[in-house]
Amino acid sequence: MRYWLSFFFVLIVASLAVVGIAGFQGSKSRKPPIEIFPDMDRQPKLRPQAPNAFFTDGKSSRPLLVGTVARGSHYQDTPFNTGRLPSSTNFVAEMPVGLTAKLLARGKERYQISCVPCHGALADGNGITKKYGMAVVANLHDKRIVSMTDGEIFNTITSGKNLMGGYGANVTVEDRWAIIGYLRTLQLARLGLVNDVPAELRAGLK
Ligand code: HEC
Repeated sequence: MRYWLSFFFVLIVASLAVVGIAGFQGSKSRKPPIEIFPDMDRQPKLRPQAPNAFFTDGKSSRPLLVGTVARGSHYQDTPFNTGRLPSSTNFVAEMPVGLTAKLLARGKERYQISCVPCHGALADGNGITKKYGMAVVANLHDKRIVSMTDGEIFNTITSGKNLMGGYGANVTVEDRWAIIGYLRTLQLARLGLVNDVPAELRAGLK
């Protein structure tokens, strides 16, 4: 019993001490508040539109970079961006970028990074993931996919299809077209006939 009494006594004294020093919550005072956990009350930062000497133009807000697109806003409805004819759901038949050796080299590099793990270097669906149990990776030499429009393949890379996830977040728009260009050369190479090889090079075929 005694212990309880002294416990309550200590508790009351302690509470009074805290209220005496710190005051009631919300009570007004001219003195700065006691801060036990300042959290992030004060931090070095630049307020929008405020002047700042750090940049040569004296502004804290930086101008937007060329080509900046606001989150959630619609980007331009062009075949290059969507793989579809403008204001239509029809896929474009052919890629809207000019095929150059540079684009193909870029496409090869990007294909080998983003697609080879599943589709394999030859695009025949024999990537490393098959060994780990991903059984239904598409063979990109299937007649259906060879005759598919460039726009539809662009859409598959962007958003995925059935079991394949989309790679729009990882592969830039330009790189998607580059990959398609390279994929077409892989497909064409497989469909090639001896007669497609220049006569003077045929002797070197194995
Ligand atoms: C993580 C594995 C994976 C990666 C990486 C991957 N794919 Fe696929 N892809 C698949 C699978 C699985 C399918 C079969 C999907 C189905 O039909 O269920 C497929 C199907 C496809 C198809 C056929 C779609 C159709 O209409 O049937 C195309 C074209 C294709 N992929 C292109 C690509 C390209 C180009 C890349 C690289 C940018 C890529 N894929 C990267 C797994 C992958």
